[in-house]
Amino acid sequence: MTQSRHFISLQDLSSDEFRALIARAISLKNNCSPEFQPLKGKTLAMIFEKSSTRTRVSFEAGMAQMGGNALFLSSRDTQLGRGEPLADSAKVISSMVDCIMIRTFDHAMITSFAQYSSVPVINALTDLLHPCQLLADMQTYFELRGDIATKTVCWVGDGNNMCHSYINAAMLLGFKLNIATPKDYQPLDLILKSADERVQLFNSVTEAANNADLIVTDVWTSMGQEQEQQKREQAFKNYQVNSEIMAKANKDALFMHCLPAHRGEEVTAEVMDGNQSVVFIEAENRLHAQKALLEFLICG
Ligand code: CP
Ligand code: NVA
Repeated sequence: MTQSRHFISLQDLSSDEFRALIARAISLKNNCSPEFQPLKGKTLAMIFEKSSTRTRVSFEAGMAQMGGNALFLSSRDTQLGRGEPLADSAKVISSMVDCIMIRTFDHAMITSFAQYSSVPVINALTDLLHPCQLLADMQTYFELRGDIATKTVCWVGDGNNMCHSYINAAMLLGFKLNIATPKDYQPLDLILKSADERVQLFNSVTEAANNADLIVTDVWTSMGQEQEQQKREQAFKNYQVNSEIMAKANKDALFMHCLPAHRGEEVTAEVMDGNQSVVFIEAENRLHAQKALLEFLICG
């Protein structure tokens, strides 16, 4: 079996490759010609075990725009959902398509699947990481403010899959990352162990947001944690991005959120819909960043 290049974590990229993907995404966004069809005849299988709007639409539209096809496979309708072994499923699906995108719960599901896949596997979110979102977030920052290397990013809220991918991005792109979480919701040691002093943990949001160039947050309750919702609402009630928090950051600071967002919980409507918020540019950039990623993985 040929050894494929996978994108399961940002750590599968070198710093130079990450920067090249960001540059390519910006260029694809600005010079999109319908004649550019590098993925003609290529198929992407998309396995979704969790809900999605942005990820599904951006991968499907991205494949179509580059001349290829995308197949939506829900675990409800495939044999994967009825317990067909992962290894068998990976061998079969990868024998028929050119790339496989997976959104699931357990990160080990993707790493095991990738072991048996003869084509590239893309992590479209697990409980541990969400690397595709970081491609779009970083593209957005570079487009609007230039290189992020010397900047300070402030993460507010849960030490979750998005926060973990921000830690990986900080190490690859060289920015400082202040993480403000309640003490029981810090990022996992497994991820923190690859970080250095550029990544700092705080309990106070105002301290973490001080002089930040980018403030980022995410939902308090991620997919799969619905039964913890009430407990989380209590734990995170002081972890809201509001105008007081934005005022601690630098004047030209941006606000990002991977979406979907809950106005009045992790972010006020005022910030979400205010002039520092770039959440809809960020969402659109999922399309451009993933087109760059698909081109990189499928065409080499
Ligand atoms: N941000 C993000 O991944 O959105 P979806 O869950 O809608 O795909
Ligand atoms: N942390 C969120 C991100 C959604 C895109 C979740 O995992 O549900």
